[in-house]
This record gives sequence, structure tokens and C-alpha cells, in this order.
Amino acid sequence: MFNTVFKKLVSVYLIVILVIFAVLGVSMIKIFENYYFEKRSEALIVEGQKLNSTVIKYLNHQVTYERLEIEMEAIERFLNTKVWVVDKMGYVYGVSNRSETKLIGRQLTEKDIVNVLKGNIIAKRGSYDEYFESPVMTVGIPIFINGKVENGIFMHSPIYEIKETLNETYKIIIYSILISMTIAVILLYFISQKISRPIKEINQITKVIASGEFDKRVSIMSKDEIGQLAVSFNHMAEELDKLEEMRKGFIADVSHELRTPLTLIKGYVKGLMDVELSEERRVEYLDIINRETGRLTELINNLLDLSKMESGKDIPNMEVFDINELIRRIIINYSNKLEEKDINVEVRFNYDPTLVLADKESISQVISNLVDNAIKFMNSGGNLLIETETKENKALISIKDTGIGIPESDLNNIWQRFYKGDKARSRQIKGTGLGLSIVKEIIKNHKEQIWVESKVGEGTVFRFTLELFNGN
Ligand SMILES: Nc1ncnc2c1ncn2[C@@H]1O[C@H](COP(=O)(O)OP(=O)(O)O)[C@@H](O)[C@H]1O
Ligand SMILES: [Mg+2]
Repeated sequence: MFNTVFKKLVSVYLIVILVIFAVLGVSMIKIFENYYFEKRSEALIVEGQKLNSTVIKYLNHQVTYERLEIEMEAIERFLNTKVWVVDKMGYVYGVSNRSETKLIGRQLTEKDIVNVLKGNIIAKRGSYDEYFESPVMTVGIPIFINGKVENGIFMHSPIYEIKETLNETYKIIIYSILISMTIAVILLYFISQKISRPIKEINQITKVIASGEFDKRVSIMSKDEIGQLAVSFNHMAEELDKLEEMRKGFIADVSHELRTPLTLIKGYVKGLMDVELSEERRVEYLDIINRETGRLTELINNLLDLSKMESGKDIPNMEVFDINELIRRIIINYSNKLEEKDINVEVRFNYDPTLVLADKESISQVISNLVDNAIKFMNSGGNLLIETETKENKALISIKDTGIGIPESDLNNIWQRFYKGDKARSRQIKGTGLGLSIVKEIIKNHKEQIWVESKVGEGTVFRFTLELFNGN
């Protein structure tokens, strides 16, 4: 339940919540305090002003001190505020509480007192705490008679009241923090579940795929990053699946290609064991066995070539050579076959010599394979045209035949291993279906291009590029 995504989210969120509430709480308390003091001092000033007229009456001997005392006591009782009255020299002559009569007759010299007696109103907190049991806020008001300060009223209101109110605020803040945290933890639990569930699913399916079940997919529909991961993952699984299919197909193809000649060889070897076999037949059988073993050797050589190239171990051995010269030599090699089929060969070289930078042996294999195919898929009397041209820094080599052509539907498949077009025909025409895959690998290793154009019944042309040698 407490997986790591959850833990991480919770710790981050809790820190954020705590910081927010701390900042909010401190500023709220400050604002609240200021507001409270302002309102309280305003109220005290209003009370003080009311008392003002009684004090003036007392000074004018219109009321007795007792009357003034009663009023001060009332303020103390109802507003919980202690009152002092001082004369213009700062001598206390009236107090609201009888227990403070010891103050009477004492001269107060604090700066604030002097300030008030100069005619200013003051509002302070914490300056007179020494006179009282608990901290107080103090408001001082001057009393004017005929425009001159005659007396001052000082009112002290205990602060513990506000402390209580602030304690309430602290409580509210702490409760809010607790509630927000609880809600956050609950929400985060579900969110992290939502996040981790698909990751867990992908994880699980990765293991299943790793164990060989390539058809498994994850079923995540979300559009977020995890959804994208799921799509990529499924794509990867699909590619793995295809690869696996290819691997299986490859093994089946190889086995099949090996079995056919081996069965033939076995059959004819058995035939050879027959003592009554005529010399003529024996020669014929041996001929077939020879041909089939040759085929097997070719197949295995082709497979070895392919695997070497695909493993990336076959680094092209680049050298400068004349491609035209190579073509001439290959044509000479094929002269028997060309004559056999009465094929007319034409070569067109734009520049002679055409120097290219490539792996001579591999390119020789490419041209041989293409010429071999051209001859194989032509009827007697066809035309074979081999051309070299130069374009910018590339040599373009074309091998064109007037053979049977390749149906459009086959054009993409011919590069695949073991692909042989037109099954009925290929039984008579020998071949492994590996020729073009080798050609493609070699060109790919050279980082060059090869492509094919063909029309059924008219013929086929294979073209590929090579790097021209700069000195050309
Ligand atoms: N010049 C061509 N004309 C017609 N079909 C061709 C030609 N070259 C290749 N093909 C088709 O492509 C297939 C694959 O060629 P390749 O890989 O060389 O195998 P293979 O020669 O052993 O059949 C051939 O079986 C054939 O169907
Ligand atoms: Mg071939």
C-alpha cells in the first residue's frame, strides 16, 4: 500500500501544506493582532473622551471626586480597563481601583506621560507591564481646558484577552492543517494508486514478454505520459513479436531449404547402391548429387555471409577501383551462361574508367547476384544492359533485363530472406531466395541506396549507388 510513489508525493505535499499554513498563520496572526489593537485603542480613546468631560467638571468643582471615581470604577468594571488621571505635572491624583491608591500622589515621568501632557494621544502595548500582573495595552489622552493641557487620562487594558482570541486562531490553524493533511493523504493515496497501477501493469507485462509470450499488450488508455509510455511499450512489444515471428520463419525456411536437397541426395545415394544400375544412370545420379551438394554449399555460404553482415562484424573493406573493369570481368565469368541462353549483352559507361570507393569483393557479389537473377529470369534471346553513370559525387549502376518482370505486389518482398517469387516457376529455376537480401545488406553496409523498377512481361531494372572516388 505505501509504495514509493505514494511516499514521495505525500512527503512533498505535506511539506508544501506546512509551509503554506506557517506563512498564512504567521501573517494572519500579525494582521489580526494589529486589527485588534487598533479597534481596542479606538474604543478606549472613545471611552477616555467621555471621561474627559467629567474630569473637566471635577476640575471646575462642578462634581466631587467621588463622582469621578464612580465613573472610573464603572469603566474598570465594564471594560476591564484600569484608569489613571494625572495633573499637568504628571502627579497621579485619581485611580479607578482602590487597591492602587498607593499610586496617588506619585509623579510619573515616563516619556509617554510627558508626551501626553504635551497634547498628544498615545496607544502602546507592553510599556506599563511593571505596574500590573499581566501585560497591558495603554492609551493616553490629554485633557484640554481653554486650549491648554491641564490633565491626562491613562487607560490600561490587559492583553490576555487578545491572547485568548489568538489561541483560538492558532487552534483553527492547527485544525485546518490536520484536516488538509488528512484530505491530502487520502487524495494522494488514490492519485498514487492511479499513477502506480499502470506502471505496475507495464512492469508485470514486461516480465511476461521477457519469458517469451510476445503477444501480450498493456491496456492503458490515459493520454498522459504514462499513456504514451504504454503506447511505446506496446509498439516495442509488437516489434519484438514480429522479430520473433521472423526468427521462427527463418528457422522453418532454413530447415526446409536444407531438407529438399538432402532428401534428393539421400534418394539418389540409395539408387546408387543398386548393383544393377547402369553406368549411364550412375553418372546421371552422381551428377544430381553433385548439383544438390553444390546447392547446399551455396545456401550455407549465403547464410554465413548474411549472418556476418547482419551481426555488423563485416566492416566494408573500402578501396578505390574501376567499377567498369569489375563489370567487364563479371560478364566474362558469366559468358557460358549468357551463351547458353543466347543473351545479348550491352554495356554503357558514361566515363571510363569510373573510379569508386567501396568494398570490391562485396560489390562484385552484388553485381554477380543481380546479373545472375537477370539471366535466370530471362527467356532465350533477351537483352541485358549494364550501365554506369556519374551524378554529383555518386556512381549510378543499372542492370536491366528484358525478363519476366516482377509483379507489383512482389516488389517489396523480393528483398526478404528466402523470398522466391512465383512458386511454380521457382521449382525449375534454382535459387535460395537469399541473393537479394545479401545485395541489400551489402548496399546498406556501404550506406548507399538500391531500388528496383519492373513491369511484368517487359523486364526489370535494378539500380544502386556507390561513392565516386574524388580523384575522378
Ligand atoms: N531480374 C529479375 N527479374 C524477375 N524477377 C526477379 C529478378 N530478380 C529477382 N527477382 C525475383 O526476386 C526473387 C528473389 O531474388 P533472389 O533474392 O535473388 O533469390 P533467388 O534468385 O534465389 O530466387 C526471385 O525469386 C524473383 O522472383
Ligand atoms: Mg538470385
